[in-house]
Amino acid sequence: MRTVRLGYVGCGFMAQKVHLPNLSTIPGCELVALAELRQDLGRKVQQRFNIPRLYRSHEELLADPDVDAIAVSAGFMIQGQIARDALLAGKDVFMEKPMAVSLAQADAILEAERQSGRRLMVGYMKRYDAGNELVKETVDRFRSTGELGPITFVRNHGFCGDWICGLDTPMDTTEEPMPEVPAQGPEWLPAECLDQYLGYLQQYTHNINLLRWFLDAGDDVSVRSVDLDDDGYTGVVVLDLAGTRAVIESGMISHYRWDEHTQIYFRHGWVKTWAPPLLLKQVPAEVEIYRAGDEQSFTRPIPKPAWSWSYRREAEHFIHCLQTGAPFRSPAADTRTDVRLFEEIYRAHLEQRGVL
Ligand SMILES: NC(=O)c1ccc[n+]([C@@H]2O[C@H](COP(=O)([O-])OP(=O)(O)OC[C@H]3O[C@@H](n4cnc5c(N)ncnc54)[C@H](O)[C@@H]3O)[C@@H](O)[C@H]2O)c1
Repeated sequence: MRTVRLGYVGCGFMAQKVHLPNLSTIPGCELVALAELRQDLGRKVQQRFNIPRLYRSHEELLADPDVDAIAVSAGFMIQGQIARDALLAGKDVFMEKPMAVSLAQADAILEAERQSGRRLMVGYMKRYDAGNELVKETVDRFRSTGELGPITFVRNHGFCGDWICGLDTPMDTTEEPMPEVPAQGPEWLPAECLDQYLGYLQQYTHNINLLRWFLDAGDDVSVRSVDLDDDGYTGVVVLDLAGTRAVIESGMISHYRWDEHTQIYFRHGWVKTWAPPLLLKQVPAEVEIYRAGDEQSFTRPIPKPAWSWSYRREAEHFIHCLQTGAPFRSPAADTRTDVRLFEEIYRAHLEQRGVL
């Protein structure tokens, strides 16, 4: 299979702690170039990962004909623009979530994908967690056999906590200031609400994206009700997910690990999953299956592989799809729905508060 010659844009936290360690050790992936506006940091990371070329801007990297594809984690204000530029320059792209900070930006990125014929995968690592794969297979099976009856309700609880869990992967730092990026968001959103909107979006985009995948809901999702506090973050959002009521509980707790679980209720049982702390390597989500009826039972099947890291499997998937032409599990076109829903949730929230 062909080797994918990859360029990486942005050398911050996610690059150094997660993506570069993974991509630099995946067979069939060769890291050939880096781009980082903070050149002192870029040089340190280049040396650590032994990457041949360092560019300052993503534009310079995109002009390199030896780069087949790029991966980018440059911050949500700028990485959508970088992804779009990369597609138009003829490169396939892996980007960190969220894909876009507005529906207009999402559509511009999708248009670039169509025009260029290149492909964009968005970093929704929960879809690559071996425990969540087991949930998806189990839900699919129960839906096709009907053995637990119809799906009646779905809930996702996400109060966050410690997501890093002492991960000791080394990280280079710099005294160089972070690059300034002009603020952007939906054109209807008042500027003073942007930070709250982005705070909610960048966290719960994962949760909504996961629920849509579990239920094969695609774009068949609408917002039923929104009840968020003044902080624009804490509360409950109710969605209609392909005809099923789905509740997203958002909030904060100073928990020593990651407080997130998802439960899919059937008339006669449930499938439940507990998310691992995100950066706790080699630990997939835990799964519980409850069957009601004459012979009540709980089972806790172990995912396969039993020990694996969602982010590494996500990176392997990206490289595999580029090598084989297989479709991405978290493609840009599907992700557009998440961006749409966040605009709808925030519009409803701000209308209720009389801000709009
Ligand atoms: N999937 C997850 O679980 C997860 C977790 C945390 C963060 N993220 C996402 O990862 C992204 C990056 O987060 P981070 O914490 O690594 O950010 P960061 O601020 O630590 O790093 C971003 C880096 O990109 C560089 N940069 C900015 N613009 C650039 C440009 N035009 N060209 C080259 N370099 C540029 C900055 O100098 C910085 O070093 C965010 O979008 C965030 O939403 C995802």
